[in-house]
Order: sequence, then C-alpha cells, then structure tokens
Amino acid sequence: MQFKTRTHTCGELRTSDIGTKVTLNGWVDTRRDLGGLIFIDLRDRFGITQIVFEPGYNLEAHSAAGNLRNEFVISIEGKVRQRPEGTENPALETGQVDVMVNKLVILNEAKTPPFPIKDDVETSEDTRLKYRYLDLRRPSMQKNILMRHKMYQIVRRYFDKNNFVEIETPVLMKSTPEGARDYLVPSRLHKGKFYALPQSPQQYKQLLMVSGFDRYFQIVKCFRDEDLRADRQPEFTQIDVEMSFIDQNNIFEIVEGLMKILFKEIWNKDLPNIPKFTFDEAMEKYGSDKPDLRVEMEMVTLNHVFENTSFKVFNDSIKNNGIITGLLAPGCGEYTRNQLDVLTDFVKKQGAGGLIWMRVKENELEAPIAKFLSDDEKSNIISSLNAKPGDLLFILTGPKLKTLNIMGQLRLEMARRLDLIKSDAEPKLLWVTDFPLFEWDEQTKRFYAMHHPFTSPRLEDVDFMESDPARVKARAYDLVLNGSEIAGGSIRIHNADLQAKMFKALGISEEEAEHKFGFLMNAFKFGAPPHGGIAFGFDRMAMIFAGEKSIREVIAFPKTASAVSIMDDAPSTVDENQLKELHIKIR
Ligand code: AMO
Repeated sequence: MQFKTRTHTCGELRTSDIGTKVTLNGWVDTRRDLGGLIFIDLRDRFGITQIVFEPGYNLEAHSAAGNLRNEFVISIEGKVRQRPEGTENPALETGQVDVMVNKLVILNEAKTPPFPIKDDVETSEDTRLKYRYLDLRRPSMQKNILMRHKMYQIVRRYFDKNNFVEIETPVLMKSTPEGARDYLVPSRLHKGKFYALPQSPQQYKQLLMVSGFDRYFQIVKCFRDEDLRADRQPEFTQIDVEMSFIDQNNIFEIVEGLMKILFKEIWNKDLPNIPKFTFDEAMEKYGSDKPDLRVEMEMVTLNHVFENTSFKVFNDSIKNNGIITGLLAPGCGEYTRNQLDVLTDFVKKQGAGGLIWMRVKENELEAPIAKFLSDDEKSNIISSLNAKPGDLLFILTGPKLKTLNIMGQLRLEMARRLDLIKSDAEPKLLWVTDFPLFEWDEQTKRFYAMHHPFTSPRLEDVDFMESDPARVKARAYDLVLNGSEIAGGSIRIHNADLQAKMFKALGISEEEAEHKFGFLMNAFKFGAPPHGGIAFGFDRMAMIFAGEKSIREVIAFPKTASAVSIMDDAPSTVDENQLKELHIKIR
C-alpha cells in the first residue's frame, strides 16, 4: 500500500512545530468522538500525539476516520496546531499541540486485542504471555525493554573502555554434571551422544585466560533445567567476566565501577560505599547469604547468654554445637496468641521445631518459657537485643545454618508485616565474601562444591581441606542488591596440585575428573595464569533496576514458571522422523 513515511515520531512534536505540515505513522491508541470531531491518540514507541479529524477541515479524512478502531495502523498527513486553551495535556510531552488531519491512510486493520494496550489493566499473566507481542506494546513493557537496552550499551562501553575483550563461547558443549541439571541436545551424527547447553561459560572463560586474553567479558545466554521462581528462568542472561593476574580486590573494583555507572545512568543515584560481610557475619545478622539491608532488623546470637543455663533446650543446643539466635520485633508486644500461632506455623513450615517468643515488659519478660530462665539470663536477653517494654522477641535454636536461615525468613516475614520495605527505599548493595568452600548434602552424605570445583580455597585454609572440610572458606564472593543475588564469582584454582586436592575432597576420582574436566585440567598444564572472575545475572539486575518483582517483566519472551512458552507452545512434540534421525524413541 502506498503511504508516506513519517516526518516525525509520535513523541516529537512541540510548540516550535506549530504550523508545520507533518506525516505521522503509528497505532490508534484511543479514539474519542466529540460532537462531529474525532480525536485519536496516535502511538509509537516514542510517544503519543493527538490527531484531530474535523469535517470542516477535511471531510474525506473525517469520514474515513469513522472506521478507525484501537490498534489500527495508520499514516496521516496534517498540520500542527496549538491545542485550544484548556485542552493541553501536561502529562504528554507532545501535550501542547495536536495535528489537524487532511489525509488518512489505513495501513492495517487490527482485531480487538485480548486486553487493552494500557498499563495497570488487570490481565492474567498467561494471557499476557500468550499475546506477548501485544503485551510488549504497553508503555511499561516498552520502558523496561528500552532500559534493558540501555544497560547492555552501558555494560559494553564499560568493559571495552577497561580493556576487556568480548568473546563468544559455544552454545553446544560437553555436559558437565555439576551444579544444576543440563539441557541436552541429541547429536544426529553421533548416535547416542549429546551436547549440553552451557549452564554458564565457566570453563571456556578459564580456557581463555590460559590463551592469554587476560580480560574477557560476554553478555551470554545460560541454560539451567532447575525449579523456577520469580527470579529464575530456564534460559537467562549473564554478564560473564574473567580476569588474569588479579586478586579479589581487582574484581571488586571492576564490578563497583560498573555498578557506579548503572546507579547513575539508570537511577540517577550516587553509589554509596559497598559494605562487605563475610558469609558467617551475613548469616548471623540476617540469616541469609543474600541479606536485604533495606530491612534494618538484625538477628543476635545469644549463645553467650546461655552458657550455663539450666533450660534443657538451650543447654542441649549449645552442647551439640547449635546456635541460639534472637530477633527483636519492635512494638509487637501486644501480638495476639493467634498472631503468634501463625508465626509459629510459619517457622515450622521452614523446618523449625517451634518458635520461642517473649513479650517485653518493664524489667520483665512474659513468656511460656520464662519460668525456666534465671533473672540474669532474662536481663541479658533484654540487653543483648536492646529490647524495650512493648517489644516482642523471638528465639530459635538448633543446627547453625538451618536455624539461622529460618530466623532470616522470619526476619523478612516480620519486615513484610511491619511494612518495613518502602517502595522508595534507598537501594542496598553489598558484598558477601568468604563462603564455605564445601556444602554438606544430608541425602548423599557427601560434600559438594558450594560454587564449583575450580573455586580456590582461602590459602590459609588449604591444610584443613582433608581434616576438616566444613571449616574451609572459599575465595568466593556474591554481590547482593536489595536481597537478591545479582552476581557471583571466585578466584580459581590454577595449580594442578591444589586442584587434585579439591577433587579428592569432593570424592571425585582421578578418572572421573579426567572424564568430566580433562580438557580444562590439561590446559592448565600449559601455563595457566592466576585468574578469577564473576558473572552477573543480567535479568535479575534489570528486574531490580526496573523496580519489578519478576524477571519475566524485563525479558521480551520469557517462559512461565513451568518452563513453557505459552505463545509458541514450546516445548512441543516433534515429528516421528525428526526423532528417528536423532536415534530417539519416546517411551
Ligand atoms: P552463578 O551460578 O552464581 O555463577 O550465576 C551467576 C548469576 O546468574 C544469575 N542466575 C540466574 N538468573 C536467572 N535465572 C537463573 N536460573 C539463574 N541462575 C543464576 C544470578 C547469579 O548470581 N560461572 C559462575 C560465575 C563465576 O564463577 O564467574 C556462575 O555461573 O544472579
């Protein structure tokens, strides 16, 4: 169809354009008929311009406009005018002017969309995802996707400026069954063999250090077949980074430099100093390795209060190397029994045996367990938690990490109940360092690498790798923003002896290591520089910068929580022939 291409976008016209003849192209956003006049808000990604059809101005255009419906695609020619006094719209950048139309071309009609193309319209997420191409027309989604674009550009400029080399790594690789579950791709040419989609380019980026590229980055898709949550997708994007001849501080510096620019350019905020917590500190104070510091409440370890206690529950716990942790809920001293029961159920669901609570009165604690505690213990609890009359306090006891974790959940639950996280709260960024190198798995009764098997232990802990693996800390670090882990990385092992020690501690035999990681181990024999790196979860970061609660809001075509794409119906069945070629039979 013949049409004139636009002279201006729908976000462009201002009072300085009054009197100009223009051509605009776009979608019909809304239409209003007012006593013979037809007003259309014309929309494209740059904005909205009001266009006016008046029979006295152009009869033909006016009568053609009678056919227009929402989401029709049109081209118009007309003249910019000052809007009549009192009809200006300060909410629009183009709101001082409109366009008197003398020619209308309908470029395409549109069915009535399944939901209005507006923000704040209640629509189920499934419907939004089924018609994602329409959902993406909505202003909030356009804004999110454009912000994401801006973030890509900032990231690329930043790493380029700092001498990093962008290198693509394979998407079809060898399966390395550590970490999450792999997505597998069957090989047609090699019967019974499979590629895996990378969970991350971890091994490739380490190989690139062996190759001497020194500073690498990549904005890269990663694939993990794991249980999904609001901040997890089966395919997601990392900003992947690796550096040679560095220590942790160099990584911190590079990362902080990027965060500083993102804070400024996305939020127009200055990045405050980023505090560092060791894993142990973070767990004791916040019950989480990704604490949300927007909540000021801190947990307090109370073991010292009960060293000589006659209260059996605490006594047993201390003897068993457990922890007694307390949390103050300010001003909650009047919580009803019912409210306390609900909170008790909450912690029980997380695996706690029960919840100890105490109401703080003038110089006294009122609680079911109060009779088991000495006066000294009571006053010690009050002073340790800095409690005041009218407050409520909680105590949990049991195995250390598990108990701290549950109290951390209760901390966040109380923050929600007390509405402590305001939507305009200052963002809180922090480092968590010194993670345990190993994680004990109760089910399989063995240690796993908490990060991955190439993570270096702290050098002062190397001697304990065999004798006391649980106490060995890693040179690993996470970056946490508003309670969300947005990046994680480590200094790697680059020395064959230490790597052998690591595999031994993990119960991975030499043959197994050779089979799984042989190419990397081999490469390290040809002069591997000391190196380390980090990877950002790009979608998570974009989610937080956009102020969204789900990463699906910043991904153009995301999967649902059950890993389905409702729009194109993936995953789907395939032809029998396709399966045959791949030597696959469905049972
Ligand atoms: P890690 O596994 O911690 O480290 O991943 C890095 C970051 O990626 C994000 N992330 C995810 N985002 C969305 N959906 C998911 N399923 C998902 N899984 C992880 C998180 C996380 O912090 N190779 C190492 C990095 C390194 O050591 O350099 C790695 O992948 O924000």
